[in-house]
Amino acid sequence: MALLPILEFPDPRLRTRALDVDPARVPEPAFQQLLDEMFETMYAAPGIGLAASQVDVHQRFMVIDVSEECDDPRVFINPRITRRDGEQVHQEGCLSVPGIFADVTRSERITVEALGRDGQPFSLEADGLLAVCVQHEMDHLEGKLFVDYLSPLKREMVRKKLAKARRAA
Ligand code: NI
Repeated sequence: MALLPILEFPDPRLRTRALDVDPARVPEPAFQQLLDEMFETMYAAPGIGLAASQVDVHQRFMVIDVSEECDDPRVFINPRITRRDGEQVHQEGCLSVPGIFADVTRSERITVEALGRDGQPFSLEADGLLAVCVQHEMDHLEGKLFVDYLSPLKREMVRKKLAKARRAA
């Protein structure tokens, strides 16, 4: 297995809207291997979520593990949020925007429907960090980044800071 390169802001490929996964493809070894590589890449980073868009695969799926022990891997294929309640503000970061953290307001509780890695549909009620993470990763599938919630001035500061960090590296 291999670690996958993660696209970084402001790479225009991160703005691609992902297409639905054909459910018939889910059991295929190539797709299952891609899921394994996405988990490996996410854990190595380290991060708590990774959308396919971030590894330049523009299909609607993502991997998440918000547990402290990294023992609760979750796969969401063709996810849809069917219910939202309340609001929460959480300081978010993103593997595609390294070293940048900012408060984002999102729904406190959600119900998400998706296919799991076995291709079977499931429905999950989530709140707190898991709900934040699902909403953050689903934004990626729409070509949206958490820095889009910031003012244009702040977003420009983020872009400059990352460009400077890349030059220094
Ligand atoms: Ni992200």
